[in-house]
Amino acid sequence: MNTFEIAVIPGDGIGNEVVPAALRVLEAASEIDGGLSFKWTNFPWGCQYYLEHGKMMSDDGIAALKNFDQIFLGSVGMPNLVPDHISLWGLLIKIRREMKQAINLRPVKLLRGLNSPLKNPKDFDFVVVRENSEGEYSESGGRIHQGEEEIAIQNAIFTRKSTERAMKYAFELASQQKNHVTSATKSNGITYSMPFWDDVFQDVQKHYPDIKTTSTHIDALAAFLVMKPEVFDVIVASNLFGDILTDLGGAIMGSIGVAPAANLNIERQYPSMFEPVHGSAPDIVGRGIANPIGQIWTGKMMLDFLGYNEIGSLILAAVEDTLESGIKTGDLGGTATTEEVTNAVIKNLKKRS
Ligand code: NAI
Ligand code: MG
Repeated sequence: MNTFEIAVIPGDGIGNEVVPAALRVLEAASEIDGGLSFKWTNFPWGCQYYLEHGKMMSDDGIAALKNFDQIFLGSVGMPNLVPDHISLWGLLIKIRREMKQAINLRPVKLLRGLNSPLKNPKDFDFVVVRENSEGEYSESGGRIHQGEEEIAIQNAIFTRKSTERAMKYAFELASQQKNHVTSATKSNGITYSMPFWDDVFQDVQKHYPDIKTTSTHIDALAAFLVMKPEVFDVIVASNLFGDILTDLGGAIMGSIGVAPAANLNIERQYPSMFEPVHGSAPDIVGRGIANPIGQIWTGKMMLDFLGYNEIGSLILAAVEDTLESGIKTGDLGGTATTEEVTNAVIKNLKKRS
């Protein structure tokens, strides 16, 4: 029996509704796979904690999290109570940086039973590998002077080490999928970092002669995600480009409420963190109508990372069965509650096992 110790941080808003729902699905999955079990440890960190303690997580929080196999997080942020830059940097981004979660992985797939806003979409199924530690989101630069003389400088930092790590990961992933990696570049407009990005891509691709590669400028790539998303397998992108592309990815799936994500420490030196793309959705909190699918699919990504791909695939199939049967929350045009969707997913999971 493999027992995994998982730190659970429901966080704020609907995180407290969708995380318990996803844990029920993961528990059901562990019952199906007799060799797998979980030990959940709950951490009450978030904006409410901040209001009581003046900080988003306890001082020994990072050290405590390092003892776990993985972290399962809901969402962070209650902008009416705590400013976003405090809540996100004090918990979410702190964990990503301290645990060296240098890869952000976000799948985009046309789910069975879901209406994409694209007209007659072909069957798309791809993954964006986003460099998660540097690039355009580097704390380097400054502002000087005021008024008309004011100057702002923002440096983008690209290291060979981190660029290579993201690209190698993308190639390894493609070799288990459809053998195609697309590099998001902009070397026609950005004069140093993106030609460097292209050079590293060419170096890495030499080690994977069986994988087809394409290099596409980010502006054209954004358009292709709308016009022909079915041609992609794995897209590797810098921090900023990946961030923007994955919101577009969530949009073409039909709702941000279904989009999953993982922040990976691929060296497995520290735990990775699994959290859906969406936030705390203050506008619908407490009504029991949040879509649990993003969080459930995120749980599937955690199972994949732990090596339980088969049961992970069953979970996604059970989600699609549920959507196909018309059991959907309001964001997808349905009337079902969080609990009804979760019950249906668990029922369909048991049916498939
Ligand atoms: P949001 O993702 O929370 O909500 C955007 C819209 O999508 C809302 O109308 C919401 O009701 C809807 N929505 C989101 N998830 C849903 C779900 N599972 N089911 C049904 N509808 C859903 O983004 P917003 O409103 O910009 O941010 C709210 C708070 O969340 C802010 O404090 C923000 O900083 C934070 N946030 C946190 C993230 C994280 O923890 N990773 C990511 C994005 C935002
Ligand atoms: Mg984003």
